[in-house]
Amino acid sequence: MKLCLLPQSLARRAILFLLVGFAFIQLLGLLVHTVNQIKLERLVDEQEFATRAAIIYRHIALARPADRAIVAAREPVPRGDTVSLTLDPPLAGTVRMPLQMAEAIRAGIFTYGIPPDLRPRGIVLRVTTHPLRLIVSFGLPDGLFPPLFSHSPDDGLPGVTLPSPEQLLPPLMWLTVTTELHPPAPWRSPGFATAFVVMMLLGGIVITLAVRQLLVPVKTLAVAAERFGRDVVNAKPLPEEGPSEIVTAARAFNTMAARIRRFVEDRTFLLTAIGHDLRTPITRLKLRAEYMEDEEQRAKMLADLDEMEAMVAATLAFGKDITTTEPLARIDLASLLRTILDETADVDPDHAAALDYQGPQHMPVNARPLALKRALSNLITNALKYGDAARVTLHAPVKGVVRIDIEDDGPGIPPEEMERVFEPFRRLETSRNRETGGSGLGLSIARNIVRAHGGDIVLANEVKGLRVTVTLPV
Ligand SMILES: Nc1ncnc2c1ncn2[C@@H]1O[C@H](COP(=O)(O)OP(=O)(O)OP(=O)(O)O)[C@@H](O)[C@H]1O
Ligand SMILES: [Mg+2]
Repeated sequence: MKLCLLPQSLARRAILFLLVGFAFIQLLGLLVHTVNQIKLERLVDEQEFATRAAIIYRHIALARPADRAIVAAREPVPRGDTVSLTLDPPLAGTVRMPLQMAEAIRAGIFTYGIPPDLRPRGIVLRVTTHPLRLIVSFGLPDGLFPPLFSHSPDDGLPGVTLPSPEQLLPPLMWLTVTTELHPPAPWRSPGFATAFVVMMLLGGIVITLAVRQLLVPVKTLAVAAERFGRDVVNAKPLPEEGPSEIVTAARAFNTMAARIRRFVEDRTFLLTAIGHDLRTPITRLKLRAEYMEDEEQRAKMLADLDEMEAMVAATLAFGKDITTTEPLARIDLASLLRTILDETADVDPDHAAALDYQGPQHMPVNARPLALKRALSNLITNALKYGDAARVTLHAPVKGVVRIDIEDDGPGIPPEEMERVFEPFRRLETSRNRETGGSGLGLSIARNIVRAHGGDIVLANEVKGLRVTVTLPV
């Protein structure tokens, strides 16, 4: 079995696709925005740290060498920062600070401004990655050395600016200030989540409204096609208005409907015209037959002519059925079925016991009462005529559709004839006798009527007899 996770309706599918696409674009946009913001915040953090480090350095550089440890210990620093005095810059476990960051820190230190006599003898910039720590070490001047800011690229120590070896006179103390930065996690920021949810909600509303609006004409077209299928002759044309594509589709639909209608009307007209025109020659033939001398031949001829007359009458009725416009009404299907059975029993009292109704007392449906009665009477009469019984069962509606089963005790219909018996004038050999004489239009008319109601008729052979199932929308 094919697993289909996509929603069935076009509107829901369109909304789903658009929402997924929209969410993706939102995430991307917000991510770019947040990453930029984090970069900016990081730059501010770095510069603030650089200024903090420069202030601390200045305090300690100004203090007497003997007091520096105490001054360093008392230096007020924010949580996460550390201040230490060592003989060497702490390099273990650290790596060279990335160039961009190093430039930002240096810029921060120089912007703060350090008097020339207090300038450090060297600055070492390092980082640790887990956790992300910035480490700035200043070589304290002690007033002994000229200010040093020379960059010596060959000192062999990445990221370190050190004085030349002859200037390195002991004791050279290093002041190290460190701070910890938090790694960036843009999606954890509450702003990110809130912006995403708000935008998705607004986007979802706009997308839903737009898709619904766009699909209204599709629904209208579907309803119109359905209505047209039920009632070719009387279905109203689609309004040709709205966006250009819809106008084109509506116009095409109306043209198609008009052509089909003209085709049906022409055919029906032809049928009724032939039927109508045949009546006069039949009457003439009947008059002439009266003058035939052979009594037996005359009787046979008149019987044939009677049959032809009946067929013509049925043809005219068939044509009239297609073109009549009986309005839809709320009727009680259960009562209608019982009435048909009662009337059939009145006409054929011998078989009254073979007629049976099972089902609810009432069942309201929308239908054209006379047409539906004609269709159901045809089916019940058939069951009695060819199957000696008519057991009618009315089932409760399922998904808006009621089902009527008509069962009999006859021979049924051979499978290869199941569809052909619905053709006009089609009769099976077994029924070609005077007793059951009919025109062969009954099933054709019945199915036309039921289909015009949006339902259908299906035949099936049972162990004994035929079962005719009629479905109708409530
Ligand atoms: N319940 C049934 N059992 C067996 N055969 C059937 C049954 N109903 C219809 N048929 C066969 O299908 C043929 C067509 O039926 P249909 O109702 O269209 O015409 P008809 O009954 O012969 O004539 P009409 O209904 O126009 O008076 C019948 O002639 C008959 O042979
Ligand atoms: Mg019939």
